Parts: sequence; structure tokens; C-alpha cells
Amino acid sequence: MAKYKIVKMPGDGIGKIVLPEALRVLEAAGFEAEYVHGDIGWEFWVKEGNALPQRTIDLLAEHKIGLFGAITSKPKDTAAKELAPELQDKGYVYYSPIVGMRQKFDLDLCIRPCRSFIGNPLNFIRRTGDGFEEPEVNTVIFRQNTEGLYAGVEWTNPPDNVRKAMETHPKMAKFNDTPSEDLAVSTRIFTRKACHRIVYEAFEHAKKFGYQNVTICEKPNVIRETSGMMREEAKKLHPNYPGIDLWHTNIDAQMMWLTKNPENYGVIVAGNMFGDIVSDGFAGLVGGLGFACSANIGKDVAVFEPTHGSAPKYTDLNPSIVNPIAMILSSCMMLDHIGETDTATRIRDAVATVIKEGRVRAYDMMRIKGGPDAISQGACSTQEMTDAIITKIVEKMR
Ligand code: NAI
Ligand code: MG
Repeated sequence: MAKYKIVKMPGDGIGKIVLPEALRVLEAAGFEAEYVHGDIGWEFWVKEGNALPQRTIDLLAEHKIGLFGAITSKPKDTAAKELAPELQDKGYVYYSPIVGMRQKFDLDLCIRPCRSFIGNPLNFIRRTGDGFEEPEVNTVIFRQNTEGLYAGVEWTNPPDNVRKAMETHPKMAKFNDTPSEDLAVSTRIFTRKACHRIVYEAFEHAKKFGYQNVTICEKPNVIRETSGMMREEAKKLHPNYPGIDLWHTNIDAQMMWLTKNPENYGVIVAGNMFGDIVSDGFAGLVGGLGFACSANIGKDVAVFEPTHGSAPKYTDLNPSIVNPIAMILSSCMMLDHIGETDTATRIRDAVATVIKEGRVRAYDMMRIKGGPDAISQGACSTQEMTDAIITKIVEKMR
């Protein structure tokens, strides 16, 4: 019996293409596991009125580790229209299965490493006085994944008791004349427990992997209470980590510094929304969606997924042209999480070698338009990229 049982959830669109590629790489690198299939995504919304069926939740609860491709989400009204005729008008409401998984298993840590590979033509370059330089980016974003503005506590036309409670705050006075039906409220709720956990895990990560600084990227000068709590927890923990600097940046300034000195940042911690923003920003410096991997980690369950979505416009291309690297790097994060770090390193080294050699490049690495002509313009197929990575793994293991 295999030591690991992993719930594989390809989902929709290119999720179904890149996930099997990651499994091929894992196998070639000598990782033995049994994969149990989990249904998730649009198909199940349409057929069953639930994009995250209970049977998939049960599988995750049982096996604890999920490898997830991507899903398709559509706006509320489109979702309602596409629902199977027999399910129409029965009260089904579409919810994102990703948010569902995060909330269900309290996957409160979202970790998004953004590391440049030498030779990646998509790496950020910066103009200097007399030329250009390519700063080496190696930043890991720790995004709080379950609270803040994305927790979903919000109203348009808030009920009277909510409105009354808000009116106990002196700053609500300026909204006194606004009728409730013209008022939209999205709350930003932080708990000390979650702030503590994400800051603690960020410091531990910095210590383990030799990062010299942890930056709290929030906005405590304006959002005093929530950002302030994150800042406070970081200040409390910092004395336990001699040798690691604690920095504070505001999200707006951080985005400006993104292209000025990204190489200075080690671990960055942010609440849900700012973490979403800053992690996309850093991912853009190291290759974008074809390279952006992530982990969603709770106390009990963890799910690993590329940052990209289902890219419907490329789903039916044959051969497929999408870059499998983001999915493959996500599976390396899974290996790190379960302690199979040597295998993870073997795979990352192979990815690095393929990128450095530059003989095999996906369309996104060539800055050409994706589409049926990409391959005739020199781009590799999805499977060829995987094959190139596997070849490097096998060469090293010989
Ligand atoms: P997307 O990430 O699916 O694609 C945007 C564009 O990025 C693509 O058209 C393609 O040009 C490029 N791209 C994405 N993945 C790539 C890869 N592996 N290699 C090369 N190029 C790649 O985002 P979009 O188009 O906004 O959304 C499409 C669907 O995916 C929507 O239904 C959306 O709701 C869903 N989505 C799901 C996510 C998830 O499952 N985590 C995240 C983002 C969007
Ligand atoms: Mg995002």
C-alpha cells in the first residue's frame, strides 16, 4: 500500500490538463502515492447544484492532502441559467468551491512563493543608469486566507440592527442621510488568533529557510484596528527571532516598491485582500500565471494549487499549449509539506535546468500570443514541457 493517499481534483478547463502533467512528474521523481479522484467545479454545479460536492469534502477530511487544478466560476445570473433544468428555481445558489474549501477546512494560511528562475525570459528587468539589471526575486507571500474582506460578512441594504450597531460609531454620522437601500457594507474582520498564526508561521518559515526579513504589508495608519492587530502580533513575536528583521510597509507603497527593490523582501505577511494583491504583484515579476504556485494550509487539511484559473480559451487546443510549471511547482509545495523535501528539490532543480537551457519554452515564456499557431512559432506543447522536465529528473537519478 502506498504511504500517501492524495485527493486529486483536476476541476475544469486546463485544470484537467495540467494536473495529470504534475502527476507524471511526481511519478518520474520517485514519489509513490495513491491518488483518489475528487469531483469539483462547474460540471457539478450544473448537474448537482453544488460545485463542491459533500463526497469531495469527505475525501479531503479523510486523506488530508489535496492537489487541485483549477475551476471555472461565472457570475450569479449566468450560474443560475446554466443549472440543469430540473434544478432550476429550487433555491440553489452558486458558491466558489475554492472559497468553500478554505472555509470548510479553515485553510487559513495561503503561501505563495515567488522565486525567479535564472534564464526565464519573463523575469523582471530594471533599467539602471547605463543599461539593465535583473534582480533575483525570492519572496514568499503569507496571505491570511479565511478572514478580512473576503470572509463574506457584507450587506447591501443592511438590516436595521446592523445599521444601529454601526451608528454607535461616531464616524457613521456622515452616512446618516443615506437610506439603507443605498448603503453597501463589506466588513473587514481580523481575529487575534488568525493574525498570530499567520505571523508565527511566517517567522518560522523565515527561520527555516534563511530569509532575513519578515514584512507586514498592511495599512495600519488608516485601517487602524485590523491592520493594527496584525502589526501588534508581529511586534510581540519578533523578539523570538533574533537575526530576522521585522519591517512594516503599506500595501500601496509596497506596490510602488515592487519594481524598485523586490530583491530586498524575504517573507511578506498580509491579510486576505492585500495578500491577494501583493502576491499577484510579485508573481508578475517571476513569470506570471504559468509559474505562480500556492498552498492553502489548515491545521488538519492542506490543498495545493496553481494560482491560475481554468483558462477556457485554451482548454480545447490540441496539442495543449499551457504551461504546466505552476501546477508542477504546486505539487513540490505539497512534497515539502509532507516532508518529501528531497523529491521536491529534485523536481525544482529539473524545472530550473529546463528554464536555464531555454530549449523548451511554453508560449507564455516566448511572449507570443497563445493559440493554435503558437507551436508553429516555436512554443512547446504542455506535454513537451513536462517531458523535458522528466528527462532532467531521470538524467540526475541515473
Ligand atoms: P485564468 O487564470 O484562467 O487565465 C487568464 C489567462 O492567463 C489565460 O487566458 C492565459 O492567457 C493565461 N494563463 C493562465 N494559466 C496559464 C498557464 N498555465 N500557462 C500559460 N498561460 C496561462 O483567468 P481568467 O481567464 O480570468 O478566468 C478563467 C476562469 O477561471 C474563470 O471562470 C475564473 O473564475 C476561473 N478562475 C479560477 C481560479 C482557480 O481555480 N483558482 C483562479 C482564477 C480564475
Ligand atoms: Mg488572485
